[in-house]
Amino acid sequence: MENLAPSHPSNAAVLGGTFTLPGMSKPVHRMGYGAMQLAGPGVWGAPRDPDAARAVLRHAVAAGVNHIDTSDFYGPHVTNQIIKEALHPYPADLVIVTKVGARRGEDKSWNPDISREGLTGAVHDNLRNLGVDALDVVNLRLMGKIHGPAEGPVAEPLAVLAELKAQGLIRHIGLSNATPTQVKEAQTITEIVCVQNLYNVAHREDDAFVDDLARQGIAYVPFFPLGGFTPLQSSDLDAVAASLGATSMQVALAWLLQRAPNLLLIPGTSSVAHLRENLQAASLTLPPEVLAKLDAIAAEAVPQGH
Ligand SMILES: NC(=O)c1ccc[n+]([C@@H]2O[C@H](COP(=O)([O-])OP(=O)(O)OC[C@H]3O[C@@H](n4cnc5c(N)ncnc54)[C@H](OP(=O)(O)O)[C@@H]3O)[C@@H](O)[C@H]2O)c1
Repeated sequence: MENLAPSHPSNAAVLGGTFTLPGMSKPVHRMGYGAMQLAGPGVWGAPRDPDAARAVLRHAVAAGVNHIDTSDFYGPHVTNQIIKEALHPYPADLVIVTKVGARRGEDKSWNPDISREGLTGAVHDNLRNLGVDALDVVNLRLMGKIHGPAEGPVAEPLAVLAELKAQGLIRHIGLSNATPTQVKEAQTITEIVCVQNLYNVAHREDDAFVDDLARQGIAYVPFFPLGGFTPLQSSDLDAVAASLGATSMQVALAWLLQRAPNLLLIPGTSSVAHLRENLQAASLTLPPEVLAKLDAIAAEAVPQGH
């Protein structure tokens, strides 16, 4: 097993300290893990190496990761089944966050489905495939402009999720790919504990949103923290990383951890070596002159997902 046990006092620093989602009794380390990369190519079907996929999850948990992001539409079903195979019965401190609101087509497409039947079915799929009686956190994933949000009403699907919460099938609710207006509307229906949107060192369209959520004590969980399907590529980032003796991915993650205390990281990887590298990013401190250099990357980047 790994030398980093979850209860080890130095782990708080190693994994970026902790954050407690509103209304939740168990804090999570700010450095978590996103499981989307565990399905097959195109987030479809079985992984090329199922043993390696399970090893990544077990390594993450052994290193103290207690926040895992997933969805039953990864695979579909496959990623949740791998999580269950690798980790069930789950450690008491583990928080698994899933999302509903989309359905995969046979052509591997991602289609919105926020109908009552679709959402209810998705919650039951997640419960069954993860092997739990209640889901810790369910994000309503709005399809908007796929990787960027678009305004539109959210009350109806959230009312469905709030009913499932009242039935005890969901403990907490969040939103993904959402605008500040949609979060405000959602808060009239139910408590929102986290927002999961596209954000990274190069794509900072949500800067003001991050700060507003921090003031409310709500977690902001960036998806594509490393750039996602097209991992971040920047000569400025590479130069900064070289000057610190770190990798570009570690600098990208360290920047997010330093950006705001309510940022929870869920970098995705299918590789134990990359996972190790990513977790080590939490012990990297970026000095002010480095932060200034990284600001240039955002200024030069082409907006993504909008
Ligand atoms: N709410 C949403 O709509 C939404 C959308 C997308 C993702 N998500 C969630 O967010 C999580 C993170 O996003 P993501 O996985 O799509 O993208 P990401 O974390 O930005 O990047 C993942 C990519 O980076 C590579 N990578 C990871 N660590 C690396 C390292 N140290 N060195 C080099 N390459 C590295 C991975 O390849 P390897 O496998 O080879 O390491 C993979 O190709 C997902 O896992 C998922 O849980 C949510």
